[in-house]
Amino acid sequence: MSAGGFDPVARAFQPDAVGATVRLRGWVLRSRSSGGILFLVLRDRTGTVQVTGRKDALGAAAFDAAEHVQNEGAVWVEGVVAEDPRAPDGREVRASRLGVIDAGAPFPIWSDQTEEFRLDQRHLVIRSQEMVATFRVMAETLRAFRAFLDTEDVLETTPPVLSGNAAEGGAEAFEIDYFGRPGYLSQTAQLYLEALLFPNERVYALTPSFRAEKSRTPRHLTEYLHLEVELAWCDLEGLLSFIERMFVSVAHAVAERRPKELKQLGRPPDELRAIAAPFPRLRYAEAIERLRAQGFSVAWGSDLGAAEERALTLESPQPLFVTHFPRELKAFYMLRSPDDPRTVEAADLLGPEGYGEIVGASCRETDVERLRGRLAELGVDPAGYEWYLDLRRHGNIPHAGFGIGIERYLRWMLRREHIRDTTPFPRTPSRHTP
Ligand code: 4AD
Ligand code: MG
Repeated sequence: MSAGGFDPVARAFQPDAVGATVRLRGWVLRSRSSGGILFLVLRDRTGTVQVTGRKDALGAAAFDAAEHVQNEGAVWVEGVVAEDPRAPDGREVRASRLGVIDAGAPFPIWSDQTEEFRLDQRHLVIRSQEMVATFRVMAETLRAFRAFLDTEDVLETTPPVLSGNAAEGGAEAFEIDYFGRPGYLSQTAQLYLEALLFPNERVYALTPSFRAEKSRTPRHLTEYLHLEVELAWCDLEGLLSFIERMFVSVAHAVAERRPKELKQLGRPPDELRAIAAPFPRLRYAEAIERLRAQGFSVAWGSDLGAAEERALTLESPQPLFVTHFPRELKAFYMLRSPDDPRTVEAADLLGPEGYGEIVGASCRETDVERLRGRLAELGVDPAGYEWYLDLRRHGNIPHAGFGIGIERYLRWMLRREHIRDTTPFPRTPSRHTP
C-alpha cells in the first residue's frame, strides 16, 4: 500500500490480486454509465484500470456524484479485483465505495483538434497516454546516458548557461541585457567543458542550449537539452568509437527497460537492440559524390541540408558518421586535418532511417594562432575569447568532444515526425508559452 492507504492501480494486475480488496485513487481517463452501472477507466503513475460501480452497491448519492465526474477529474475507489474478459486488461475493480476528490471542469482536449489548439493547451495535453509513455522513455534515456558516462569515468559538471560569449556564432545566439552589457543564452557548454577538462580529464554536462534560428522545421527547437562530452587525449578515431559505444548502450538499455512504452509509441524494441557498432563512416567528399550520383546538385563546399542528410541514411537501420567537413562549414574551434588543410577533424552522426544529424563532434584545435585566424575570418572580436585561448597556454593537450541533442535522439528513437513531440513544453520560433 502507498502512503495514505491507497494502492497503485497496477496492483489490480498482480497475479494474486484477483479477489483482493483494493483502494485506488487517480484521475478519470474516460467514463460512461448505462443501466445503473458506471464504467470508469482510472489512471495513475502505474497505468490504467477499469472500474465498474453498480448504483445498488454504491448508493444513489455516490453514484450520482460519480456520474458527474469529468475526464481528468479525480476520485478514490474501494473494491474487489475481478476477472472480466470484456475489460481491456482482462481485469477490473468492482467498486463497493467511491468518492469524488475533484469532479473537474469539462476537459477541453479530444482527438481531431488542430495542432495549434493542442499546443495552446499543452499544459493539459501532456496528460495523454502517449505523452506519459514519452516521459518514461525520456527519463530512461537520460538515466542510460548518465549510467554509460559513469561507467566510462566521465565526470558530470555544471557549466553556466548565461555567458558574455556567443560560442557557436553570433547570429544564432539569444542576446540578453545583462545589467546594461550584452549577454547570451548558451548555445553550447563546450568552451566551459574544455576549461573543466584540464582539472578533470573527462567531463560532461547536460544543460539547455538555445538557438535563435527562425527555422520552422520538424527538427529544430529554440531551446533543447544538450548532452556534451569533452575527453582529454582523444583523437577522431577515439571520439567516434566513444560515440558509437554510447549510442548502442543507450539504445539497448531503453529497449531493455521500456519495451512496453516503445511499442506503444511505434518503435519495436528489437530495432533498438539491432543497433550495433561499428557504424558506417563516410568522408564528406565521398558523401558529396554519393549525393551527386543520387541527383542532388551539391559540390565540394556545399553544406548538407535536411534533404541531403535524409537521403544518406533513409534506407539504413544504422546511424552513419560523416567526417572531414570543409572547415568553412564548421565552427572556429575544430582541429585542422593533419593530411588536408581544407578539412577539419570533425564528424556528424546521422540517425538511421533518414532522421538526420543527432551528434556534432570534433577534435579541438590546439594552435592559438590558428584559433585567432579562424575567429578573424569569421569577423569575431577575439577579446571575448582570451580566456578560452588561455587554455592553450597552460598544459595544452589534444582533446575532443561532442554534443548530442536529446530531443533529436528521442525523435529517432520514438519515430516522431516532429521534434516537439519529444519534449513537454516545446520552444519554437512561434511559441514560448505555455
Ligand atoms: O552541432 P552543434 O551545433 O554542436 C555544438 O554545439 C558543439 N559545440 C557540441 C560539442 O562539441 N560540445 O550541436 C550539437 C547537437 C546537434 O548535433 C543536434 O543534435 C543538437 O545539438 N541541436 C539541436 N537540437 C534541437 N534543436 C536545435 N535547434 C538544435 N541545434 C543543434
Ligand atoms: Mg552540428
